[in-house]
This record gives sequence, C-alpha cells and structure tokens, in this order.
Amino acid sequence: MGRRNKITVVGAGNVGATAAHWLASKELGDVVLVDIVEGVPQGKALDLAETAPIEGFDVRLTGANGYDDTNGSDVVIITAGLPRKPGMSRDDLLKTNAEIVGKVVDEVSRRSPDAVLIIVSNPLDAMCQVAFKRSGFPKHRVIGMAGVLDSARMRCFLAEALNVSVENVTAFVLGGHGDTMVALPRYSTCAGIPVTELLPPEQIEAIVKRTANGGAEIVALLKTGSAYYAPSAAAVEMTEAILKDKKKILPCAAYLEGEYGVNGLYVGVPCKLGAQGLEQIIEINLTAEERIALQKSAASVQELVDVLGI
Ligand code: LAC
Repeated sequence: MGRRNKITVVGAGNVGATAAHWLASKELGDVVLVDIVEGVPQGKALDLAETAPIEGFDVRLTGANGYDDTNGSDVVIITAGLPRKPGMSRDDLLKTNAEIVGKVVDEVSRRSPDAVLIIVSNPLDAMCQVAFKRSGFPKHRVIGMAGVLDSARMRCFLAEALNVSVENVTAFVLGGHGDTMVALPRYSTCAGIPVTELLPPEQIEAIVKRTANGGAEIVALLKTGSAYYAPSAAAVEMTEAILKDKKKILPCAAYLEGEYGVNGLYVGVPCKLGAQGLEQIIEINLTAEERIALQKSAASVQELVDVLGI
C-alpha cells in the first residue's frame, strides 16, 4: 500500500491555515493542523476537507489541539507565535515567540524524529536558531522560510516595473529576514537578463527598499496582523521541493558554519532543497559592498540570538 506524505502545520492562524490550503490544493500530502485554540484547527481542517470534492484533492485533513496526530510527519511547518501589529518590528516578538516555538519544537521533534522542520515564526532567523538547538536535529533538517517570500516580493515589484510576466523574473535576497536583508539586483534577472541592464538604478533602489519594507507595508495596510498569502505559499514551495526531491535552489535561512564568513548562525543564503532537506548551501561571489551588507545583516541576527542566550 502506498503511503501519502504527511505534513504537520503548527499554528492555525492565517499563515498556518493558508499553508494547509495550498498544501491540500497541491495534493502534497495529508495535513495535520495544530493550534492551542479549541475548535479552530478542527474547524478549519473540516472546512478544507469539505472543499476537497469541489477542488478535487484527495488528502486527509485533521485539526487538533494536541500533537498525537502529528506522529511520523515528513515535514513540519511551524507558524506558531504572535504576528506583528502596526508599529512593531519582527524583533519585538523575540522572547514570546522563542518560548512558543521552543515548546512546539519539543512536541513535534519527539513525535517526528525524521521530519524536516520549516520555521516561519518571527523573528525568523532567531526562531530557526531556537528550533535547531531545541530539536537537536541536524542542520539540514531545520530550515527557515524568509528568502522565498522576500524574493517573491521583489519579483512582484520588478515584474510590475518591467511590465512582464512574474514567471520571467527571478530575484535574489539574502541575509536575515529584517530591515537589513540584502537584495542582489545584479543576480536578479528578467528572462536571463540582469535587471540592472533593464531598469535605471534609482528605480532598482526603490524596489530594493520596498522589498525590505515588504512585511511592514502589509502590516500597515491590514492593521490587525501581518501578511499570510505569500508567506504561506513560500513555505509550501519549500515543502514541495523537499517532498518531491526537486533539488530546487531557493533562498532559505540556513545554519552557517563558515559559509559567507558566518559561523554558528542562521542567515538567509541560496540553498538546494531535496529529500534530505537542505542538501547544499550555494556560495556565490559577492562584491565587497554586498559582503559587508550580509555581515551587517548577520550581526543583527546575532544580537537577537545573544539576547536569547542560545
Ligand atoms: C512578513 C512577515 C510575516 O515579512 O515577516 O510579511
């Protein structure tokens, strides 16, 4: 008998529930949605299960307040934690979310010792560090979602500026998921052409700024929470790359041990994702300026990790 993949999504808020939606519609596997709020994960899972006959996906959807149904998951997406409110930076969430993520990791890592953990909770890079330390998992099975989201935002803005299909546009964003993220326009392309050949520097500069501010732009509009369509889709793209062993290169937060001159810290870099999780960190040549920007971004992640004392 065949076995479907099993994916646990922790946190049934907007990001978690929307991730479950994308996972189901792509038929990536059975989905277990976990949240502490009574009835919410069950209700959202049931609502999605009732969508299946319309949309034609054959996956089982389960909602739970505990973790027993998560046993033996292949991938666990962790979205639990508080989202940002207007005026808050991702870093304001540090201590509360570290506690929440730590507890979640204890629960899921015991029950799914072979899973790949994809961390989505903010502040992202520091939460990855928490998950890595608490799980005891090898670094290739604890990965953070940030770069896919940040580069999707940049691709969206570039495609709009160029009036071309989003599918023509690639973008590279490295570093921590915060104000210091490092967008690399010369590695961003439209149909293979570097965007630096197609747009004036001021316009690229404006797009880079808007990208770094992308999360806050949505928070300011929504007022009651943060972005969720693109963040959840980004986590699902990473999940798909792993479950289908696609060997897809995506920017992810990874534990660096000397790569890019960073040691013992999660920072966003180009990663190859496949069945093993993070299968390779791709090191690209950076200009002195880009390298300094990346070091600065890593230093801001280190500050948070130091506050947590991990
Ligand atoms: C964002 C938040 C979720 O970038 O980090 O939208």
